[in-house]
Amino acid sequence: MDKSEWIWMNGEFVAWDDAKVHVLSHGLHYGSGVFEGIRAYETERGTAIFRHREHLERLAKSAQLYYLDLPYSIEEIRDATHELIRRNGLQSCYIRPLAFRGYGEMGLYAQSAPVEVMVAVWPWGAYLGDEGKRHGVRAKVSSWRRISPNSLIPHAKASGQYLNSILAKTESVRAGYDDAILLDEGGAVSEGSGENIFVVRDGLIATPGHTSSILDGVSRRSVIQIAEDLGYRVSERDIARAELYLAEEVFLCGTAAELVPVREIDDHPLGEPGEVTRVIQARFEDALHGRAQEYLEWLDVVEQPSKVTS
Ligand SMILES: Cc1ncc(COP(=O)(O)O)c(C=O)c1O
Repeated sequence: MDKSEWIWMNGEFVAWDDAKVHVLSHGLHYGSGVFEGIRAYETERGTAIFRHREHLERLAKSAQLYYLDLPYSIEEIRDATHELIRRNGLQSCYIRPLAFRGYGEMGLYAQSAPVEVMVAVWPWGAYLGDEGKRHGVRAKVSSWRRISPNSLIPHAKASGQYLNSILAKTESVRAGYDDAILLDEGGAVSEGSGENIFVVRDGLIATPGHTSSILDGVSRRSVIQIAEDLGYRVSERDIARAELYLAEEVFLCGTAAELVPVREIDDHPLGEPGEVTRVIQARFEDALHGRAQEYLEWLDVVEQPSKVTS
């Protein structure tokens, strides 16, 4: 990891190496935390956080779904994040807010253990690599099914739920692929290990809907809007596994990975990124980097007084 200088933790700015927790923190044992992955980009208007409010609203909703009372408002976390980016002197970065049940009580109903909140920011390049963004990645349909809504809450971005994504990602990388595609409990396509998925068939774009155990991705929503603004029709529908192999194009999108074409699935070649993927990817990149006038409202610009060092 590329260290920064400061981390915001429970209302204070602490040095990166001092941002520590007790080993008996509840979240460490049971995964009782919720988090976000957000990115800020260098734009003509300055450092701008992409769809910051939507991410923080999802954080608050994830917390609510797991009965965690956030001790800070969305506005307070937003202000802290702006100040953190300024203090660390970063022009672009990945942003990781996390709220977790801390130290104080063990057991499964540990209501007296406090909810702790932190935000860290650091430079982080494209999650599936620049090469993957240009030429596409190789994916494998995972033997692990995406968490079921009957057992957990796919709509929540909760720490413990990521053991499912870790199993899928690990299996695919160890088998020599770049990423995993997970099916839902009924066998329909759900999403990537940390990205939503889109397929293009007969020129039509489709993506799994909310009943396919997806995370309601901020990038997914942005891509749907961009595609429709470009004149494409996007349907949210069940996608059969075989459609992954029969599709003209498949791509993934998420904050960490951004928009990544898929060039091969289970050893079925899809080839170099197709036209639809290319056009949407270019527009999406424009939106992220503040080059698309109509999407400027998605940017939360960090006002930049000079770097504070203490
Ligand atoms: C499981 C999962 N699905 C989808 C996504 C994409 O969501 P977003 O575009 O909001 O980053 C992510 C990343 O947060 C994820 O972890």
